[in-house]
Amino acid sequence: MDKVKRIGMLTSGGDSPGMNAAVVSVARCAMRKGFQLMGIKRGYNGLLGLSENPEDDIEYLDPETVLDIMDMRGTYLRTARCLPFLQPEVRAKAAEDLRRQGIQALVVIGGDGSYHGALELCKLGIPCIGIPGTIDNDLRYTEATLGYDTAVNVCVEAVRSIRATSRSHDRPAVVQVMGRNCGDIAMRTAIATGAEMVIVPEMEWDLEEVADRLKFLISKGNTRATLVISEHCWHKMKPFDWRKVIAEGGFIIHDDDPLNAERLALVLKLLSHTEARATVIGYTQRGAIPTAYDSAFAFEAGRMAVDLLSGDTSSFEDGFAIGVRDGRVYSTPFAEALDDTKPKFFDKDLYRLINSL
Ligand code: F6P
Repeated sequence: MDKVKRIGMLTSGGDSPGMNAAVVSVARCAMRKGFQLMGIKRGYNGLLGLSENPEDDIEYLDPETVLDIMDMRGTYLRTARCLPFLQPEVRAKAAEDLRRQGIQALVVIGGDGSYHGALELCKLGIPCIGIPGTIDNDLRYTEATLGYDTAVNVCVEAVRSIRATSRSHDRPAVVQVMGRNCGDIAMRTAIATGAEMVIVPEMEWDLEEVADRLKFLISKGNTRATLVISEHCWHKMKPFDWRKVIAEGGFIIHDDDPLNAERLALVLKLLSHTEARATVIGYTQRGAIPTAYDSAFAFEAGRMAVDLLSGDTSSFEDGFAIGVRDGRVYSTPFAEALDDTKPKFFDKDLYRLINSL
């Protein structure tokens, strides 16, 4: 295989704080090695248009120009979730188009779905490096993903504010955070804010137990108790007729109305006779300015990506994913990073502690 001279880079999946810092890092380190860096727009979608309108999908990234995006919010390269890329013939064409553009290797910043795409491109002869860009921290092989620390800080700031107003009004709070199927953002936010309850998708939960705990906390004078709940936990609730509670409370509820943070707060309000209120933190977690940790991690990851591509890429069929292990940035083959036979560690003891203190 020829030595890499031109690298492509894309961001894919949900945007995450730190993605831009990783682009800056790759651009600067690439320049030092004499590589040219091409930015591909809107994730793998940008690869699909390379043969028709390359000018809309690809841009030369001048290291001096991109320096300005170091702490920019969102992702400069734009992002997307690209379903057609699941099809082998679409990927084969993308690899062909990359070669036609003289792009010999790719740096992909994204989560597990993006990594699967990158691994497939490796098999088609395009060496790929993955940088874990997702706020969810749901990748087993790494202690941190780009944007996770920022998302936690956004949630902590929000919960602190919510707890202040909750205290003023003697109102318990239900606060929903993101994380997809991983409860890390919820757990970290709960620990850092002293929240009295947490619900995560890793654990089954019982709404009546939550209501009992809230009643207990209120009886002890804690009238502003906070429940931090991760999104996508609803299917982990033990069967309980919460609609009946709402209907008996005099509120309108339909059989197909799903449980959500607002309805959970209403059920808790009715069961514990308090003014529980709900807040969904939402996309503010993704659109925040990266913390120093995320920016620095992005920079180190970008440097490692370029270092790997400047070595021998002839044995790159498995590509490499960059992550953090024992606090240090390291790389491991995609196959190992994506191996879901080894579940991600979840600290059940800490979970029980938060819910019982
Ligand atoms: O993966 C990042 C994430 O923000 C998840 O936490 C969340 O479930 C999902 O993306 C939301 O995706 P969308 O941008 O499609 O609403």
